[in-house]
Amino acid sequence: MKRKPVNPTNPVAPYLGGKRNLAKRICAIIDAQPHTTYAEPFVGMGGIFLRRRIRPRAEFINDAGRDVYNLFRILQEHYVAFLDLLRFQLTTQENFKRLVKLNPDSLTDMQRAARFLYLQRTAFGGKISGRNFGVSADRPARFNLTTLEPDLEALHERLAGVTILCQDYSEFIRRVDRKGALFYLDPPYFGCENDYGKQMFERADFVRLAAQLGSIKGKFLLSINDVPEIRETFAAFNIAPVQTSYSIGLSNDARGGRSELLIGNFKWEMP
Ligand SMILES: C[S@@+](CC[C@H](N)C(=O)[O-])C[C@H]1O[C@@H](n2cnc3c(N)ncnc32)[C@H](O)[C@@H]1O
Repeated sequence: MKRKPVNPTNPVAPYLGGKRNLAKRICAIIDAQPHTTYAEPFVGMGGIFLRRRIRPRAEFINDAGRDVYNLFRILQEHYVAFLDLLRFQLTTQENFKRLVKLNPDSLTDMQRAARFLYLQRTAFGGKISGRNFGVSADRPARFNLTTLEPDLEALHERLAGVTILCQDYSEFIRRVDRKGALFYLDPPYFGCENDYGKQMFERADFVRLAAQLGSIKGKFLLSINDVPEIRETFAAFNIAPVQTSYSIGLSNDARGGRSELLIGNFKWEMP
């Protein structure tokens, strides 16, 4: 089955661990690799998924985070009604505080998606827990539907035909793995396993993930912070360091350049 060109789009909100700095290089590697199915077990806001320039017919995205999954589903299925709900939102600190306190499980799916989008757009650094209201003197308000609407529309269109799931990564990989599949994996950083919620991902999951990836039928590319434990756990695969920079990253990290690893079970040319 032939792959087709697709217009790259931007994530609709910042996200902790979003791959802005690396996206160009990772997407170039993915786009150059023949595949008939594309799958992301840890899709987040889609920093890689959305920036690719070629798509196969079968695309699967997954995230165990309920808010992420719900936002994608709402944009896919209830786009027009969702926009109507958003029209009445304003960027104020009072609104931010009120929404942070709300229990998302008490909301309808549509309200939940609006809350999540609003908080991700306005929180400093795209953080998921311990969010602070982000203010920049030199930037306009962060929740402005006039500028956001074209991105939401583009995402709605991009999600047509994409299968969206909310499972643990291991179950998702089992389900989607086949000859011709290409997985891109962006798990939480080593040392930051709890950044997306408690007990979603444990340190031991790196070992489980490496074992599972060792026996899949498809190809995979994974990006992760460069620490000795990761190099050791994934030693059976091709490993290449890449330079990047984070603004919010490892808890003990100051701002600045950092090395990240690309790991995979195929050989790629570094763009
Ligand atoms: C580093 S972020 C991905 C960022 C993404 N590449 C982007 O550009 O926005 C890791 C994601 O993995 C998800 N996650 C954490 N544990 C998971 C698990 N056990 N199974 C599936 N997803 C998980 C988190 O909810 C988070 O969205």
